[in-house]
Amino acid sequence: MPANYRDSLLRPVPWLESFDIDGDVMDVEHKWLIEAFNHACLQTAQSATLGRQAVADCDIIGLLATHFANEEELFDSLDYPDGALHRREHDHIRWLSTPLMATCDDHTFVRSLIQSRTFLVEHLIRHDLGFKTHLLHRDGK
Ligand SMILES: [Fe+2]
Ligand SMILES: [Fe+2]
Repeated sequence: MPANYRDSLLRPVPWLESFDIDGDVMDVEHKWLIEAFNHACLQTAQSATLGRQAVADCDIIGLLATHFANEEELFDSLDYPDGALHRREHDHIRWLSTPLMATCDDHTFVRSLIQSRTFLVEHLIRHDLGFKTHLLHRDGK
């Protein structure tokens, strides 16, 4: 495994209060996802085999699927105007994370893990926080 994966990109991403969206289910799911990815990255720093085991144990693919489905259901119920774009971003992360359970190649696995976590955090900042703005506006805040 390349050293830069082991030494820097696999370090945990901290949860920040500024990531909070709804003070409820969305935040809980986001925290679970970040924790699961952090755990898988830490395990992967030891070996890709341990990383794969962590991805399976934490059911990262299942967590992503559940979270995106829950969030997209909210878009529909709230008439969120950016729902189509936001869904496409979810699709991109689904695509990035597909090799986590589908590849036998360690390099592809590690790249998929790092890219999935990086894009998830960026998605949180760029898109989920945008959704929060919509929620606040809807509530007159
Ligand atoms: Fe989202
Ligand atoms: Fe989200």
